Amino acid sequence: AVGHPLKGKRVLVTSGPTREPIDPVRYISNHSSGKQGHAIAKAAAEAGAEVTLVTGPVSLADPVGVTVVHVESARDMLAAVEAALPADIAVFAAAVADWRVASVADNKLKKGAGGPPSLAFVENPDILATIAKHGSKRPQLVVGFAAETEAVVDNARAKLARKGCDLIVANDVAPGTGTFGGDANTVHLVTPDSVETWDRQSKDGVARALVTRLAEMIAKA
Ligand code: PMT
Repeated sequence: AVGHPLKGKRVLVTSGPTREPIDPVRYISNHSSGKQGHAIAKAAAEAGAEVTLVTGPVSLADPVGVTVVHVESARDMLAAVEAALPADIAVFAAAVADWRVASVADNKLKKGAGGPPSLAFVENPDILATIAKHGSKRPQLVVGFAAETEAVVDNARAKLARKGCDLIVANDVAPGTGTFGGDANTVHLVTPDSVETWDRQSKDGVARALVTRLAEMIAKA
């Protein structure tokens, strides 16, 4: 359908940061605002898809016409993503914490004679890699993001192979780029055999162009 190229398709999007608790009042997180992921969910809904957005804590309003699931930690996000399957297309724009604190304190950690606490970390599940390697439940198109501060395209290509996705949207998040939290983004679309660099544009513009591209890819597949 003209104007609704994703009509009849189910799209799953992750967005925002995760929060990994230290104790009942403290957590570890990152600067993701959710702007890029939420824009993709909105653009997919406008393209006629049935969209589920799984988001970490952000201060954005839920996009209209989208089913939104709010989560905190990476493990919660994985469970919510699994529950939202099946999907035709999954786009992983969330900035998921790679590590969580190994043992979360039951009570607020106190300042004391022992000095500051040492925190031990364990690895979080990789949500994108889990879904990309999901066998029968794998969405037809699995799209990752790569947030890099150096060698953006090379690192993205390595992630594409390691995580088993069909496409990586690579962006530079070095200090000064404003990618985390800002309204604009410069992205490189990386597939196993191609790299395309898009002009710097609003995150809404990136979202609309990406959705158009995904609709073309799924139509051809
Ligand atoms: O939210 P904004 O302020 O608008 O900023 C947008 C953004 C910079 C967060 C976004 O454009 C972006 O790059 N998102 C991915 C951030 C990230 O964590 O990248 P990564 O290179 O560490 O991870 C690679 C991919 O694996 C990502 O698709 C990520 O969602 C996924 N991942 C990572 C770790 C993990 N445990 N599970 C995952 O699914």
